[in-house]
Amino acid sequence: MGLKKPNISVVGAGYVGLCTAVGFASRGYRVSVCDVDEKKISKINQGVAPFHEPMLQEKLAESIQNGTLKGLVNRVDWIIEETDLTFVAVGTPSKADGSIDLQYIESSSRELGKALKNKDSYHVIVIKSTVVPGTTQNVVKPILERESKKKCGAGFGLCMNPEFLRQGSAFQDTLNAERVVIGSIDKQSGDTLENLYKGFYGAHMPSLIRTTLSTAELIKYASNAMLATKISFINTIANICEQIPGADVKVVAKAMGLDKRIGPLFLDAGLGYGGSCFPKDVKALIACSKSLGYVPELLASVEQVNKTQPLKAVKFCRERLGNLEGKKIAILGLAFKPDTDDMREARVIPIVNQLLNEGANVSAYDPIATQVAKTIFGNRISYACSALECIKNSDACIIVTEWEEFKKLTPDDYIKNMKQPVLIDGRRIYDPITYAAKLEFTAIGLGKNVE
Ligand code: UGA
Repeated sequence: MGLKKPNISVVGAGYVGLCTAVGFASRGYRVSVCDVDEKKISKINQGVAPFHEPMLQEKLAESIQNGTLKGLVNRVDWIIEETDLTFVAVGTPSKADGSIDLQYIESSSRELGKALKNKDSYHVIVIKSTVVPGTTQNVVKPILERESKKKCGAGFGLCMNPEFLRQGSAFQDTLNAERVVIGSIDKQSGDTLENLYKGFYGAHMPSLIRTTLSTAELIKYASNAMLATKISFINTIANICEQIPGADVKVVAKAMGLDKRIGPLFLDAGLGYGGSCFPKDVKALIACSKSLGYVPELLASVEQVNKTQPLKAVKFCRERLGNLEGKKIAILGLAFKPDTDDMREARVIPIVNQLLNEGANVSAYDPIATQVAKTIFGNRISYACSALECIKNSDACIIVTEWEEFKKLTPDDYIKNMKQPVLIDGRRIYDPITYAAKLEFTAIGLGKNVE
């Protein structure tokens, strides 16, 4: 590829694919992004981001305007011909048994393989989708070789390059990665991708790990499983704290975090983890490991803790209000975390379902996820336009997502607006001493008599 910037293509315009595409385009690379979804591509070509993500909209519009980025529907043949390297960032959803569904990986590999058949020059395929160990070697490579009639490593290169971006800061994470992991079938494939990243990051090249395809695949799962374990661990400590008068998990976590071996991040106790990654990846790693003959009991417990954790919010309501039949419960926060409208595996889903099962009337508010929530709950709950409207005349309020604007609500806001000021802090955003002095306050990980 020499000194000239290589042309990049991306298959799949989801969070990972689009942030990768816009990231490279914003640094002057010519990028084409290909997806089967016509509506999504049409939005992209109009300079409109198809989902909410800070900075993405602005950078996408800029890249479309200056011509560094373009979207294509189903033109894998074109992107192989016109670009030097293709990132594959298609979805890998869960099947009913928790294992991952590789249908999109397989179909895009077939398309890429067919297109590679007609290409004379060297091209590198890079799997960015989260796939269980062995997939790139045993599923992707044979399909590419069969369809292209070329030998992997000779006719084309193959890498596995997991992505560690977080929703809500996905674009920033793409520009400022903490590490780059490159698994490769051979040295040439890995060197090509390494050179691309060296050009992209310049003087700010993150730590680089070069390894095998399977190790790269496992690094992604191990990282997410570790973070999910930290969350279920601190939620377990929170549950223990609730049995100990005077104990507070926040203080426990803060002190634990000062030990460098533990670290302060991902020790926020709450209603558990949601999103499109942790729940799916923990399940997939368990299923993959079982299929290889090892039952990872620790991970099964991590999942179990996460399943029961959100329902504690309903239990707290019951403890304060008794029977929930006909009670108005206000829910603040619908998104699986702040700064996104994504509700995949959001903890609010089991909470609302349980409240409705017990006959409660639910009113909900989220700064940006209400439209998405309507597709999930329909008219089974009501939707408010502000936090204050949501809590009006309610019997209890549950903080489900820790949006900044909820942190600004004062005890008086709750007292003035609610029928009875029962506040359940599911994300530990309020100071327990101040709030417990004025309200009927319950919080995750707070020993009973801290009020
Ligand atoms: C996660 C990882 O953080 C990324 O590194 C990874 O690349 C991504 O999955 C992925 O595999 O694509 P994300 O799902 O965007 O990113 O969100 P996180 O910020 O990790 O939060 C996940 C969930 O954990 C949220 O529901 C959040 O509320 C919860 N959480 C997080 C806690 O309950 N406590 C914490 O201390 C931290």
